[in-house]
Amino acid sequence: MSSTLEDVREAAGDGAAGDGHAGFTDMAKSTRADWEIIGAHFKQLAAGLPDRVLGELGKLAGDYGGMRIDRLQHSLQTATRAHRDGRDEEYVVCALLHDMGDLLGTFNHPDIAAAVLKPFVSEKNHWIVEKHGIFQGYYFFHHIGLDRNMRDQFRDHPWFEATAEFCEKYDSPAFDPEAEIMPLSAFEPMVRRLFAAPRNSIYLDAMQDRS
Ligand SMILES: [Fe+2]
Ligand SMILES: [Fe+2]
Repeated sequence: MSSTLEDVREAAGDGAAGDGHAGFTDMAKSTRADWEIIGAHFKQLAAGLPDRVLGELGKLAGDYGGMRIDRLQHSLQTATRAHRDGRDEEYVVCALLHDMGDLLGTFNHPDIAAAVLKPFVSEKNHWIVEKHGIFQGYYFFHHIGLDRNMRDQFRDHPWFEATAEFCEKYDSPAFDPEAEIMPLSAFEPMVRRLFAAPRNSIYLDAMQDRS
């Protein structure tokens, strides 16, 4: 049985600080009662993650960056191409979110999506998302004074071909205003299913319901 915020407040009286909040001002002095209160808040926070992810993705709407379709349309088209090609749900969500960090991670955008996805996806899919920026460079780095073969530093990596394939089949061609773009609503249930429960996190043991 999962406990709600109200359950925990009731069990802890008015809370460890007597006002519904944890009592400590220095985490070194925190108590189990404090962390029961904080844990209930964390559950609420975790439940809201899919909404926050979708919200971040939505911020890419209207940002064309000089291109013919905006960054949200590019994301949707990348996911559409992966979905139409028969990729599984986890891969499609990675395709959808691969550029979600474009605005905040202005100089390292793949790291943002990779970090957000990491607890929920395979190491391989995480690596593809994390490295896609360097691999995508094969298609344009030579136009901006960079080495288009920068990806070759990973030539012997077991997931080199998979990442090159992601860029070749889904990311690179997804700037086409004439191509199919499935709506965000088509991918929303996939995002919610993926972010329902982490599989890799240092907090997993602490998240086990002991009630
Ligand atoms: Fe990207
Ligand atoms: Fe992209």
